[in-house]
Parts: sequence; structure tokens; C-alpha cells
Amino acid sequence: TLSKSDMESRIIAIKKKLGSKLFIPGHHYQKDEVIQFANATGDSLQLAQLSAANKEAENIVFCGVHFMAETADMLTNEQQHVYLPDMRAGCSMADMADIYQTEQAWPILQKLFGDTIIPLTYVNSTAAIKAFTGRHGGACVTSSSAKDMVKWAFTQKQRIFFLPDQHLGRNTAYDLGVPLENMAVWNPHTNMLETEQPPEKIQVILWKGHCSVHEGFTVQHTEFVRQAHPNMRILVHPECSREVVAAADDAGSTKYIIDTINKAPSGSSWAIGTEMNLVNRIISQHPDKQIISLNKHFCPCLTMNRIDLPHLLWCLESIEQGQPHNRIQVDVHTAKEARISLERMLIRA
Ligand code: 13P
Ligand code: SF4
Repeated sequence: TLSKSDMESRIIAIKKKLGSKLFIPGHHYQKDEVIQFANATGDSLQLAQLSAANKEAENIVFCGVHFMAETADMLTNEQQHVYLPDMRAGCSMADMADIYQTEQAWPILQKLFGDTIIPLTYVNSTAAIKAFTGRHGGACVTSSSAKDMVKWAFTQKQRIFFLPDQHLGRNTAYDLGVPLENMAVWNPHTNMLETEQPPEKIQVILWKGHCSVHEGFTVQHTEFVRQAHPNMRILVHPECSREVVAAADDAGSTKYIIDTINKAPSGSSWAIGTEMNLVNRIISQHPDKQIISLNKHFCPCLTMNRIDLPHLLWCLESIEQGQPHNRIQVDVHTAKEARISLERMLIRA
């Protein structure tokens, strides 16, 4: 077995050999041992934009999760192949919205609301859900673009069907002035809207999905921080629940969190509610600031963490040897419709 430094040297050598034919995008939640080799890092929106802009790399080794690699595949050309170093790097939130459940929900919602609904899907979703969204006039959103896309959607239709993260949908709509009682959760297991309100009042239908990493931050954590560190600012990701976002000082995408801390004055103190690898990286990059995780036990994303040094090396070696493993390829029909929903976002982001 190779030591860590042997693996690192091999990766450096392969990167050098493949040059600009290889591109390694890395999401901010990736481990340091992987992110050190990324050609570019970013939040979901930036990584989608970078994939669309790159016309040169024949091999894109995506250090992130499955839906991100699918997105990269759909936004690059046929000569460019996308690989995911570990196929088990999925996203439990994306898995919460199944295309069959979605196809079942749609006619029921149409019956309730007529032709007044537009779907919006968080990029944290399968290509099939993105295709459904594209087919029905809707668009993708990321945590960075959600506000603009919700505003746009309301120029198209009276109501939004937001998949699969109820929290991002609720937090974004609330920020834009939609009252909580005008939002209803769609339960894909019962095929019912969880609301006491009459249908005409509902403006936002929220798929009952969530991110288990961000549900690890609670109002109790915010109360503890307020008591223990009265001057500390609390900054969270909008995948946290409405209650947590309301109790925090600010919320935004991974890029927003990084930018906010970069701009913060020396000596300021922060509690951050997002994935562990990013929080630890921010802590180590800002020794002049007091930074803690909002949940003292930290919150790892187990699937993001599946991309590690051995998997990255294994995938790169397979490309170098001309027998690549783990290609992510969305079928042509799905990709065509899904691209429509992605492009509706990219032209506005
Ligand atoms: P962003 O990087 O767009 O904020 O997304 C967070 C996330 O959970 C990705 O899985
Ligand atoms: Fe999915 Fe949450 Fe992990 Fe992001 S942090 S990949 S939303 S499970």
C-alpha cells in the first residue's frame, strides 16, 4: 500500500502529464487532502458555471457528489468525459426526490391548482428531476441563485413547486416576503399537501426533503452560542431549517459564507452552521478570528467525504492508463430536457 505522500506524488505526476486535458473541480465541502489538487474550487453555482465554460479538458474528475458530476456532464461537450472518483458519493437530499414520485405528484397538483404552477429544482437533484423541471417550464436553482430564480418563477406563474429541499425553498420564499402560511409541504409518501389552508392561498409547494447534515444544526445550538459568546455572529447555510436561519444573524451559500468571513475584521467572532470540512478550513485560514462550528460536534457530509486520496488516485490512474473508471454519463434524452432547466438558471445567474 502507498503512503499518503506516495499517493500525493503520483497525483502530482499524473496532473503534470495530462496538463490541460485534465480538469479537477472541487466543491468546498471536500476534504483538504482532495481539495489541494483541485484546479478550481467553488459552490454549486460556480462549479456549474466552470463546467459550462471549460471546452478544453477531455477528462473532468469531479470532486463533489453525484448530482454535481451529472450536471458537469450535461454542460460539457461530447468529447469531454466526466468521472466521479467514488460512485457511492451521492447526496441523501437528492435521493429524497424520486422521479416516479414527482410524476405522481404533478397531476395531483395540477388538479388542485390548474395551470398556475412552475417547478423549480435545487441542483441537488437527479438529472431526471431536472428534466421534469425543464419539461414543465421550470428552472434549476442553487443556494447562490435561489432568490433570483424564485423572483423569476413568480413572473411566470402564480405558484412554485420547489424540489427537493423544503428548507432552501422556505427560507428563500420567506426572504422574498411570502408568508409561511402561504407555503405547504408536499409529502411524497402520502401524496398529500400538509396544510390546513385552502389551495387558493398556497403560493409555494415545498417537497418534503432536507439535508441531514444541515438538520444537525438546531435552535438549541444558537441559544447556546448566544449565551456562551454574546458577541459572536451566527452564519448558517440556507439548507438549515427556517427556525435556525431566523435565529442566526445571516445565511448564505458556501461561497457567501467564505466571502463573509474573508471580509470580516480581525478579532471578530463567528459560529458557522455548515459542513465540517468547510468550517475546519475556514478556521485554519483565519487564525486572527475566533471561529467555531455552530454544532460543537461538527457535521460531516458522509458522502462528500467518500472522495478521498485513494479514490482520487485510483480514478486518475485509470484515466492515465486509458481504461477510465466511474464515468458519469446522463442519457441523451434526459440531458436534453435537464439542460433546459440548467440553462434557464445560468443565463440569469
Ligand atoms: P452550495 O455550495 O451551493 O452552497 O451548496 C451546498 C451543498 O450542500 C452542496 O451539496
Ligand atoms: Fe447533499 Fe447535504 Fe451532503 Fe450537500 S451536504 S451533498 S445537500 S447531504
